Amino acid sequence: MKSLFTSAVAVLMLSACTHDPINPDPNPGPNLSHSCHPDTVYFANEVLPLFTANCASSGCHGDSNPADGLSLTTYDGIMDQVKAGDPMNSEVYEVLFETGNKQMPPPPAAPLDSLLKWKIYTWIAQGAQNNSCSDCDTTSGSFSQTILPIVQSQCQSCHSSGNASGGVVLSDHAHVVAAVNNSGLVAAIHRMNNSPMPPAASLSDCELAQFDKWIADGMPNN
Ligand code: HEC
Repeated sequence: MKSLFTSAVAVLMLSACTHDPINPDPNPGPNLSHSCHPDTVYFANEVLPLFTANCASSGCHGDSNPADGLSLTTYDGIMDQVKAGDPMNSEVYEVLFETGNKQMPPPPAAPLDSLLKWKIYTWIAQGAQNNSCSDCDTTSGSFSQTILPIVQSQCQSCHSSGNASGGVVLSDHAHVVAAVNNSGLVAAIHRMNNSPMPPAASLSDCELAQFDKWIADGMPNN
């Protein structure tokens, strides 16, 4: 009995590590702001910024004259293309796997990486709620846990080695440090220069506070 139980726990832990979207929101409810649960993907925190950064630039799916009449800047607009609970039948998820001319986001942008696809999948599987969470943790200035996820979801679509907008690559710790030291990253994310970043919408106050804390700590590679 004991060993059965232990292996069941081990399987659960393993699947948590591989990001299997098996855990429904333990706190379901519409339009609620929770403290952040690690297994839940929140619309306002992660999904909307991802669409804003990757789909809403001009000529694509923004507010004014969106391509195919499809605006992806609001919950309602995104829900037009979502079947709650059923990612495999949700257009916004399916198009992420198209290739060639149908690739979304279109070239020269890179296809979304698997972590971002997983976030969209999980959010839809968990019921595609208009949810948000907050616990702004600025106590640890960790690069891998805090800063890199922000850069991956909000910057790398335009600042990868294959698509270095403005000559700025933000692929890893060394490149982010170089952008802080040499390319005005701080002024850009605080929207204090002529290149507010990300261009479409500001980082959240919490993300800015986390960036500031990491920089104040000396930009550790931790
Ligand atoms: C939609 C594409 C896009 C996204 C997303 C984006 N950038 Fe940029 N970025 C650009 C372009 C284009 C330029 C060059 C033109 C300019 O400076 O406005 C640029 C320039 C920059 C520069 C140089 C600014 C300067 O003064 O020369 C920095 C630093 C930068 N981005 C950081 C970031 C960071 C950090 C993020 C994420 C938090 C981000 N960018 C997200 C497109 C983007």
